[in-house]
Amino acid sequence: MDRSYVIEKATAYIKEAQTYIKEKVNTEYGIDTKANKDDLVTDVDKSVEALFQQRINEEFPGHRLMGEEGSHENIHDLDGVVWILDPIDGTVNFVHMGTNFAISLGIFENGKPVYGVVLDVMNDEWFTAEAGQGAYLNGRKLQKLNPVPLEKALVSFNTGWMLKDEKLREVVRTVRGTRSYGSAAIELAYVAAGRLDAYISFHLAPWDIAGGCILIEETGGIATNYKGEPLDFLEKDTLFAANPAVYKELREALKITI
Ligand code: IPD
Ligand code: CA
Ligand code: CA
Ligand code: CA
Repeated sequence: MDRSYVIEKATAYIKEAQTYIKEKVNTEYGIDTKANKDDLVTDVDKSVEALFQQRINEEFPGHRLMGEEGSHENIHDLDGVVWILDPIDGTVNFVHMGTNFAISLGIFENGKPVYGVVLDVMNDEWFTAEAGQGAYLNGRKLQKLNPVPLEKALVSFNTGWMLKDEKLREVVRTVRGTRSYGSAAIELAYVAAGRLDAYISFHLAPWDIAGGCILIEETGGIATNYKGEPLDFLEKDTLFAANPAVYKELREALKITI
């Protein structure tokens, strides 16, 4: 695959989608509930995925799209080039807040990440990473992550899980602070950029994490499932992504063993 041409086109499609989403964000659009009350999909999510499908079909007929809003149903392996897309990550934020949501894209070739983008749509922050070339925020190179002690760490995780787990409540008392943004892609991008030191979640899909995990890899962070196993990108799973020093200390504090 001609990597730089694919990246150029992917960037153009994301820009087109960003313009479209910004036009729609404060208008009336259709909203449906999927599996439960916090699982929303709007006509805007569906249209963005359709836009990518159309552009990829026209320009790269041999590539395949694995998107949240339907196209993933045809994907059962990562052979060849696969674009893993979350057209809007943080749909609840999109609907309720009109901000703090992202377009997340990871491009994989034969199962290996090649390029990742997380675009914070309303704040116009482009987190990008090409395998082996480092990660960037709006064209500025992100530094490799420096060690941070747990007492000075800012960590992000699901508050529902915090209610159930005493070890996690202990961690909340140990760290400097906790945050929860409602967009896995943005939270991963923040770990890569050193704005957060860890992000843990319990039920994420490949499209939530594909773009962000490349960013983490390229800034020297660690991203595995909760048990510490490599991520799979075909199945839903847990996620444990962090600054390497914080990863180690957090796992000890949470007493995670395989
Ligand atoms: C959701 C967001 C949210 C995470 C959920 C995801 P969506 O994605 O990333 O932060 O907690 O598990 O499903 O549905 O808004 O694309
Ligand atoms: Ca969703
Ligand atoms: Ca998502
Ligand atoms: Ca989504």
